[in-house]
Amino acid sequence: MSNIQSDPKIVVALDYAKAKEAHKMVAQLDPARCRLKVGKELFTAEGPQFVEALIRRDFEVFLDLKFHDIPNTTAKACQVAADLGVWMVNVHASGGQKMMASAREAIDQCGHQPILIAVTVLTSLQQSDLVQVGINATPAEQVSRLATLAEQSGMDGVVCSPQELAIVRQQWPEACLVTPGIRPKWSQMGDQVRVMTPAEAIIHGSSYLVIGRPITGAKEPMVALERIEQELRSTGS
Ligand code: C5P
Repeated sequence: MSNIQSDPKIVVALDYAKAKEAHKMVAQLDPARCRLKVGKELFTAEGPQFVEALIRRDFEVFLDLKFHDIPNTTAKACQVAADLGVWMVNVHASGGQKMMASAREAIDQCGHQPILIAVTVLTSLQQSDLVQVGINATPAEQVSRLATLAEQSGMDGVVCSPQELAIVRQQWPEACLVTPGIRPKWSQMGDQVRVMTPAEAIIHGSSYLVIGRPITGAKEPMVALERIEQELRSTGS
């Protein structure tokens, strides 16, 4: 079976501080088989030129900067991200409906329109952390509430943990659901605690899997990618 996929489910997290290290990893990866996520660390260190270099190498890039600001500033930031040519961009749902709607409007006016998703509740937050910031709801209740708001605000989907996939998929069948916290059975847990395997996450409704160390920390990243692809094929995806 060919490994070339029109819509690869795997998004490799480039969690590096320097372009040089990131490029070493990228040189081993194939844009037909995975997408790449650039987050705050690498973007702050290396800037938009680095993202443009990835796009020139035919990679689709998820720019994971989680914008959260007043509507005008967030909308402008989304517009600049779209103009960079990224495949996906995100904002914080807790920035509110006006902020998300402004981001939607801004992207709709761009020539190139990335997928626009919202972060619900950071998985690093527990119920006690939510109480401290004045939210009297369980993380699952808050995720569900923010996913509803994201849908009403015109987002294409949300970032959520594997644990929340089933509930969000049920309430929003067409959502693009992006899921970190993925660990194949054969990989180290690292600092991830509540995890699912790639196949489990797809079965529970994930659209795209953000995977870092199981691939980037492997001796042979393409072999690790291939093992995950094999697992996904077993689910029919
Ligand atoms: O190496 P690992 O597979 O744990 O990397 C997961 C990626 O997803 C990292 O870039 C991490 O910052 C990100 N992420 C996460 N949990 C969240 C949100 C993002 O692990 N809740």
